[in-house]
Amino acid sequence: FQSMTGLAAKIAHELNNPLDGSLRYIKLAMRRLQEPAASSNAPEKVTEYLSSAQEALGKINEILSDLSQFARHGQASIETISINHLVEQAVRTLSARATLAGVRMECRLEENLPHAGGPKLYQVFCNLLKNAIDAVIEKKRLDPHSEGVVTIRTRRGDSTVQIVFEDTGTGLPVDRQYLFDPFFTTKPPGEGTGLGLAISREIVGQYCGKISADNRTEGGACFEVELPASLEPNVTYRGETIR
Ligand SMILES: Nc1ncnc2c1ncn2[C@@H]1O[C@H](COP(=O)(O)OP(=O)(O)O)[C@@H](O)[C@H]1O
Ligand SMILES: [Mg+2]
Repeated sequence: FQSMTGLAAKIAHELNNPLDGSLRYIKLAMRRLQEPAASSNAPEKVTEYLSSAQEALGKINEILSDLSQFARHGQASIETISINHLVEQAVRTLSARATLAGVRMECRLEENLPHAGGPKLYQVFCNLLKNAIDAVIEKKRLDPHSEGVVTIRTRRGDSTVQIVFEDTGTGLPVDRQYLFDPFFTTKPPGEGTGLGLAISREIVGQYCGKISADNRTEGGACFEVELPASLEPNVTYRGETIR
């Protein structure tokens, strides 16, 4: 993240709105309950206020759970990991969601890839797959006959390992210069915190890698993660198990 203080201010701001909202709605609900039972619509109103409060608290919950995936593993491990293995784990994690949405996930994984990065990349791959599936769902909503495919490729570059995620979704939003900014989202409330890509860029940076995004000429988006290849191809990650 650009600066820790800037980020802290942004998080505080993002949490403050729903927190304020929920406190206000709870106050309104209590006021209703304390009124003399004059208005017969009190129960409905109270329910309405409480569900608004609930929605706002849900938003806070969502932001905190996204932030915690960033904190989970602490410092990046110096040991590298099998990228193909990690990609397969992420694909497995998202497979139910993809099937439900009618999205096909295709893996084209290069064999004998050098190791690279580390275990936190699992979160990155999950974030990128989730986004790709979301973009395809949105595309299918606009054009029900469109084909829903997410293709994940791994390949060896010049002393790097590249992981490419291509989808047949909507393509990047017009204000794509903000894509990796914390809390930038084009999704409706409750469906996105805008933290996925910001966290992913941070994690990839911890492994001295780069992440970039572009539109595909044939439609849809393409995200690429590039990591320095490990010089020791047979180092295996022996740390905590990856969820
Ligand atoms: N594969 C994709 N295709 C199109 N747009 C995407 C894709 N991935 C990300 N985006 C855009 O980037 C925004 C930010 O993504 P992200 O940081 O993961 O937050 P969120 O998914 O919560 O909105 C999304 O709201 C969307 O507009
Ligand atoms: Mg996301």
